[in-house]
Amino acid sequence: METVVSGIRSTGNLHLGNYYGALKNFIKMQESNRCLFFIADLHSLTTHPTAENLHGNVQQVLAEYLASGLDPEKATIFVQSDIPEVSEMYVLLNMLAYIGELERTASFKEKVRKHPHNVNAGLLTYPVLMAVDILIHKATKVPVGKDQEQHLEMTRVYARRFNNMYNTPFFPEPDAYNFGSELIKIPGLDGSGKMGKSEGNGLYLMDDEATIRKKVKKAVTDTGEKSDEMSEPVKNLFAILNVVSTPEVVNHYKEAYAAGAIRYGDMKNQLADDICKVTLPIRERILDITKDGQYLYKVRKIGAEKARESAAKNLVEMKKIMGFKLL
Ligand code: TYM
Repeated sequence: METVVSGIRSTGNLHLGNYYGALKNFIKMQESNRCLFFIADLHSLTTHPTAENLHGNVQQVLAEYLASGLDPEKATIFVQSDIPEVSEMYVLLNMLAYIGELERTASFKEKVRKHPHNVNAGLLTYPVLMAVDILIHKATKVPVGKDQEQHLEMTRVYARRFNNMYNTPFFPEPDAYNFGSELIKIPGLDGSGKMGKSEGNGLYLMDDEATIRKKVKKAVTDTGEKSDEMSEPVKNLFAILNVVSTPEVVNHYKEAYAAGAIRYGDMKNQLADDICKVTLPIRERILDITKDGQYLYKVRKIGAEKARESAAKNLVEMKKIMGFKLL
């Protein structure tokens, strides 16, 4: 049995990238593994949420986890900051992380480029905190989207470095994982890169039908002229169709494209229908669950207790290996 750990930052509502890149895998994996899924509220601090927003965002992601099908009977669901052991291990692991390698991380370089006025130290050591989330439970599999692959590579480096330095195989080297296939990247509807919160190109689990239809209608396409190489925006539409629609539907539009007979308007209508089929029932459940503050509190509390057990045990062992004499 694998130990599976993963999380999503609490920076607002979850989008289709979060759902297909991570959450859907969490739901599959909880059936037959030891699973710990959390809400990364410490990581969300790099973008400075207001005190009012911090807790609201955590509650929202928790409700979205549950509404999507994460089951607190099967998986341990918790909030990162409820586990103080994480912050302590973060201090210890930081000593094994070199500035040079942190500065070369793709996600760090991108943040520096996009937000030059907020290059805080938390951003630099973001991959160290993420490695702690994983190593503190000795996870072996980490379900994430393609954009997190490099962070997982760094997690393996830190595990190996610790094991070599102290000459003991303490931390397993975890793998980035997507249930039965390659890691994926869900693109946005704006014809460019990945779907993301800060990119402003997201389709959210919380969007209502009218919003989804409007966003899909506005999605960038091309002139529809036949060419050998499919244009980037159209590839993106197909990539989303691929995850929300049946293989028959995808094939139908691929054949129409190949024959030069595709009508993007039809394809968009189909895409909007199929997105709605996936997200609208989840949206209904989110609205219900959000009303039940007591249930959310109970899930969070039970999750924290369970997660702290393994975190505390592994932290103590780590400290002993490092030579601390504990009181
Ligand atoms: P975050 O909050 O940016 O994203 C959460 C998860 O959603 C995936 N994802 C995507 N997958 C495919 N296509 C997209 N367009 C897309 N956008 C987001 C991400 O790959 C991720 O799996 N660092 C993490 C949170 C984290 C974590 C961890 C994850 C903190 N500690 C420990 C795993 C293990 C993050 O920023 O995710």
